[in-house]
Amino acid sequence: MRAIRVAAFGGIENLTLESNYPLPAVGKKEVLIKVSAAGVNPVETYIRSGMFALLPELPYTPGSDAAGVVQEVGSEVTRFKKGDRVCTVRTLTGSYAEYTTAEDKFVVHLSDKLSFAQGAAIGIPYYTAVKALQIRAKARSGERCLIHGASGAVGIAAIQFAKAMGLHVIGTAGTKEGMALVKNTGADLVFNHREDGYVKAIQDAIGGVDIILEMASHVNLQRDLDLVNTRGRVVVIGCRGNIEINPTSTMAKESCIMGVNLMEVTDEDFHEMHHVIRTGMEVGWLDPKVSKVYPLGEAKTAQHDVINNQGTTGKLVLDTTK
Ligand SMILES: NC(=O)c1ccc[n+]([C@@H]2O[C@H](COP(=O)([O-])OP(=O)(O)OC[C@H]3O[C@@H](n4cnc5c(N)ncnc54)[C@H](OP(=O)(O)O)[C@@H]3O)[C@@H](O)[C@H]2O)c1
Repeated sequence: MRAIRVAAFGGIENLTLESNYPLPAVGKKEVLIKVSAAGVNPVETYIRSGMFALLPELPYTPGSDAAGVVQEVGSEVTRFKKGDRVCTVRTLTGSYAEYTTAEDKFVVHLSDKLSFAQGAAIGIPYYTAVKALQIRAKARSGERCLIHGASGAVGIAAIQFAKAMGLHVIGTAGTKEGMALVKNTGADLVFNHREDGYVKAIQDAIGGVDIILEMASHVNLQRDLDLVNTRGRVVVIGCRGNIEINPTSTMAKESCIMGVNLMEVTDEDFHEMHHVIRTGMEVGWLDPKVSKVYPLGEAKTAQHDVINNQGTTGKLVLDTTK
């Protein structure tokens, strides 16, 4: 099969396409998926560069999010059969490939309403949104939620889930196109995080917010602490550097800064998150926005774009059939 392989940690030049890589073997509780599309996430660039807490053994195939069709199931798998449309948030052998394996507990059926590219956009973004809002922030219907960086993959997922939970959603993006996407995805109010004075504009429009999902905490954390309401929660999802904050801001309002980490998930968390994802597909609120699809051989460009993009409009995906 064709697969992207990484033999050494470093730059994007270390992503190489192999055309005769062997098919992975399937364990008892595993599913072999013929991958149609793989999600491209920022974390895969951190791992490839060797700058991540958990690194795979070299060489490896990148990627955790995939959508495709079940090719084979292990002897103890009962929920899936050959031919089922599925997607997964965690593979054993990497998703930037024509075939991948996943433990059956990390696989869900993919609704016929969604394309494979959309299925590949579910994994990390939607599970993170669900973990952040429901499991970490314990969001309640009627609360005001700022999604700081709403035009990207996690942001779009968070808008859809937050609206399904009955929250009032304020989203930000850095361009007109991103703002239009955020609005069309369901945000009640949209602001441009590259415009001077946008935080004041949010305050003028609605006062404060109860929850902030933060995609760029290295830029925004102090602003978030200024904006969040008494006993509000700032959920750190994205962080690419250090920032100085004044902790007094948290005392005055008894506000809380909490991290979210999709690598740190219990079986109970997964059970809860799968339930939300399945329901989202059935009810229809889960509707990933794919911005660009790259052939598998262009994984280098896709990883370059996912980390350097300014003016994000949804999810980047690899088409593993091309
Ligand atoms: N903690 C976890 O478990 C976890 C899980 C998933 C993702 N993440 C992290 O979360 C972040 C978002 O992931 P993603 O997949 O959604 O990435 P993405 O698709 O590239 O989206 C990035 C988002 O951040 C926005 N942004 C850029 N500069 C900003 C600023 N100064 N203030 C507010 N927003 C800004 C972008 O908007 P414009 O491009 O329009 O400016 C875009 O909406 C990444 O850093 C990723 O590594 C963490």
